[in-house]
This record gives sequence, C-alpha cells and structure tokens, in this order.
Amino acid sequence: MPTSRWVGPHAPPAISALGLRKSYGDRTVLDGIDLRIPAGSVFALLGPNGAGKTTTVRILSTLITADGGQAQVAGHDLTASPGGVRAAIGVTGQFSAVDGLITGEENMLLMADLHHLPRREGRRTAAGLLERFGLAEVAKKPAAGYSGGMRRRLDIAMTLVGNPRIIFLDEPTTGLDPRSRHTMWGIIRELVADGVTVFLTTQYLEEADQLADRIAVLDQGRIAAEGTAEELKRLVPGGHVRLRFLDPAAYHRAASALPGAGRDDDSLALRVPGDGTQRELRSLLDRLDTAGVEADELTVHTPDLDDVFLALTGGTDQPGETHR
Ligand SMILES: Nc1ncnc2c1ncn2[C@@H]1O[C@H](COP(=O)(O)OP(=O)(O)OP(=O)(O)O)[C@@H](O)[C@H]1O
Ligand SMILES: [Mg+2]
Repeated sequence: MPTSRWVGPHAPPAISALGLRKSYGDRTVLDGIDLRIPAGSVFALLGPNGAGKTTTVRILSTLITADGGQAQVAGHDLTASPGGVRAAIGVTGQFSAVDGLITGEENMLLMADLHHLPRREGRRTAAGLLERFGLAEVAKKPAAGYSGGMRRRLDIAMTLVGNPRIIFLDEPTTGLDPRSRHTMWGIIRELVADGVTVFLTTQYLEEADQLADRIAVLDQGRIAAEGTAEELKRLVPGGHVRLRFLDPAAYHRAASALPGAGRDDDSLALRVPGDGTQRELRSLLDRLDTAGVEADELTVHTPDLDDVFLALTGGTDQPGETHR
C-alpha cells in the first residue's frame, strides 16, 4: 500500500479517542481522555506511577474495555470491531511476554503461529527480525539467559511478527542501561521511518523528548497538557543561569551582587532566573565584573521536560530544578 496515503496531516488518525473513562471500584483511573494521533507519528504518554498509562494502552489495544467514551484504532471502532483493531496492532506490554524456558527463536515462531503465518514464512520472518534486532547469535539459547536489554529487544521483535502498522510500547526502555536505551530508540526510529505509528508510554522525559512528535502528560485521570516537546517546555518557567564558585568568599560576594539569585550554600552555586538571552547574560556578567568576582562555572539552563513533568503533575514548588 502506498504509505503517502496514510501519513501526513490529512491522513485519518491512526488512533483517536473521545472521553475515555475507566474506574476500578470507586477509584477513577481515567476521567475523560481525548486523543488524536496521526498515522506515522510517535506519541508519548507520560505520567507518574499509577497515572493510568498502562490502563490506556490496555483499553486501546482491546485487552480491557473502557467504562465510557469511544475510540478508533486503525479505522476500527474499539467496541464494534475489536478484531479489526487487534489485526492492525502490536502490543509490547510493560512486563515481558518472553517465555524464558524456550529459546528466542522459539518465542518468535510461537508468535508466527499465533499470526497463522505459513511455516516457511514464519521462519523467514523470525530469522529476519532476530537478525535486525541483534539477536541472531543468541537465537538458539533459552531466553532466560538473556540480559534485560536483549529480552526487551526480543519482546519488540515478537510484537513485529505480524507486521503491525500501529504498535503500543508500554515503557519500552525501563530498566535498560543508556546504551541499550539508545539501541531501542534506534529501533523505534526505524519503525517510524517504515511508516509505523508508535504509541509509547515512558517515565523518561528525555525519551519522549528524543522520540515523540507529540507528548501528553497524564495526571489524576486527565491529560494535563498535550503538545510537542517545545510547546510543553514553553508552558513552564524554569530557565536560569547557574553560577558555581570554588572560593566561598567569591561566592558570597557574587550572592550580594545578585540579590535575586537562588542560593545553594553547600555547593557554592547561584541560580539566576532568566531566559538565557545574550542581553541578559551580558548584564549578568557586567554585574559580576563590577563586584570583582569571576564564576568558576557558568551554565545556561532552559526548561526541559522534567520541569514540565514536575510542574504539571504537582510534584514541586521549584520548577526548573533538574538533576542531570
Ligand atoms: N485490574 C485492576 N484492578 C484494580 N485497580 C487497578 C487495576 N489495574 C490498574 N489499577 C489501578 O489503576 C491505576 C492506574 O494503573 P496503571 O497501571 O494504568 O498506571 P501506570 O500509569 O501504568 O503506572 P506505572 O507507571 O506504575 O506503570 C493504579 O492506581 C492501579 O492500582
Ligand atoms: Mg504502567
């Protein structure tokens, strides 16, 4: 099928939802969720533990039903045509679907059987994916011996056996080391380049920043904000210049010259709120010059998604403080 019909602003959305609701007992988990995810894009759902990310994924992938609202996935209505939805999607859950007692290859072939692929085609698909995901060498070993990163790659490879056009990845990189995380990001980018729509949940703001075309922040059962990473960053304050000193005397002189600055007496650092423009920096440096002090380290901090997350999910009274 020509991909051009299925991507771009005029294409029908891959996933759309209106007023999705879900409660467990008297606990409302989703309190009216609206989504519109264009085909061929990456959408990231962010939210603190228990916000309802996995619940959203489970509803959209027909594993559970919503109490209210409606949604279409790949043009199929969730309630009217769950089979149509299932045929179009792949789901990699938050917890691994890999069977450790059998080999990576056997896990893949099991998926091929589930998708009713003819034997030869199943073997070819499995071999191709194992190769592509760097698992060919371990394919004949029991998956129980795989590292976390290998297991996660196998998980996603299994999801791709049916060649889904929409995939849900629930926290695809949680627990992975930075190198494995980057490998996973590369895999996700390749999928998108092939025109696949990716719905991912993550705890890692940097991951959403790196991968997602649009990001939604889920909090208290509602979408607290939605937009591109840049749009979200503009929602919160948090820009500042950080000055660090080695000499306590210099630190104190600078602190008196910059009365508006936040102080960190332990690390001899000052935090001067601002947007980091050239004009502002020049005035800051002028004031330091006048006071006769020189900072040992100067860093300009623009708000990042951590700031957005903390501000929107009610976590802090100090948006902008990040730890890198
Ligand atoms: N089957 C269930 N029965 C009762 N409560 C549930 C059930 N499934 C989820 N919940 C509750 O719904 C809320 C949202 O859970 P969910 O797993 O969707 O959160 P999450 O955003 O994926 O969290 P995490 O970041 O920890 O994965 C939680 O309070 C959870 O305890
Ligand atoms: Mg979850």
